[in-house]
Amino acid sequence: MTRMLKKSLESILSPKESEELISAFDQIGDIIIVRIPESLLSKKKIIGETLLDDVKIARSVFCQASAVEGDFRTRNLEIIAGEDNTETEYREFGCKFIVDVENAFFSPRLSTERDRIANMIQDGEIMTNMFAGVGMFSIIAAKKKKCTVYSLDINPIASKLCEKNIKLNKLAGQVISINGDATQIINEQLVDKSDRTLMLLPERSDEFLESAIRTTKNKGIIHYYSHIHADKKSDAGKLSEEHYLQVTPVKSEILGSKIVRPVGPRYYQTVVDVKIFK
Ligand SMILES: C[S@@+](CC[C@H](N)C(=O)[O-])C[C@H]1O[C@@H](n2cnc3c(N)ncnc32)[C@H](O)[C@@H]1O
Repeated sequence: MTRMLKKSLESILSPKESEELISAFDQIGDIIIVRIPESLLSKKKIIGETLLDDVKIARSVFCQASAVEGDFRTRNLEIIAGEDNTETEYREFGCKFIVDVENAFFSPRLSTERDRIANMIQDGEIMTNMFAGVGMFSIIAAKKKKCTVYSLDINPIASKLCEKNIKLNKLAGQVISINGDATQIINEQLVDKSDRTLMLLPERSDEFLESAIRTTKNKGIIHYYSHIHADKKSDAGKLSEEHYLQVTPVKSEILGSKIVRPVGPRYYQTVVDVKIFK
């Protein structure tokens, strides 16, 4: 795919320019999203048309017009070629999802982590997914094991799509989509409920750690995500473990940690898996 794209862009971009463009390129179902650097903005229409022509299944090409931002972790997209529709169907690990690439958070770059979590979950477990988006982690885990997942999100569009995705994957009753603030929902309905809690809002994990602990049973597991600066990549996991141990108010056993994905120069999204004792 990458080689084919480079070939198509050869006539309009220099090799360095096309390299840069392709590293910032996502294909989600029949939608392509590119981040176009300032220096290439004057060529955005031709870039869009070229991609649309060459990627056979593409229906729309969008250019990312803002960073992922705000409470809903969404981004503004500008149509540069094809149909202006931000909803598409996406498949991952045998599950089908309707996603809206502009109005609800979604990233194909978390698929390895989704698979890791789905492989850890056991039959009979209850999981609270505090920041579930359109239900990616919840549905992939519930398709694999006979677990129950509370799938919370504050963005009404994400929660609605999660409900659609539950039906699409025939998981009614096994995955439960609840719209609202995770702290409030946990306090009202989910205290001491979960064997496993996912908190994939890495920028604000410390703010929500007490709620994560509140929904998790004694000896339950929390997957604590964060963003961490590390000069050496190999230090990122250990640094996040140290950070977790500094901020947690409960006795915890660290089960492991790893980099989920790089998010900038010497800047990483990490996960620390911990067992808590209440
Ligand atoms: C990084 S995304 C989660 C990604 C998701 N787990 C996935 O795999 O696609 C963070 C999500 O947290 C939601 N969010 C932000 N603040 C929240 C809150 N206070 N309570 C519940 N959800 C919240 C956002 O709407 C967003 O969908």
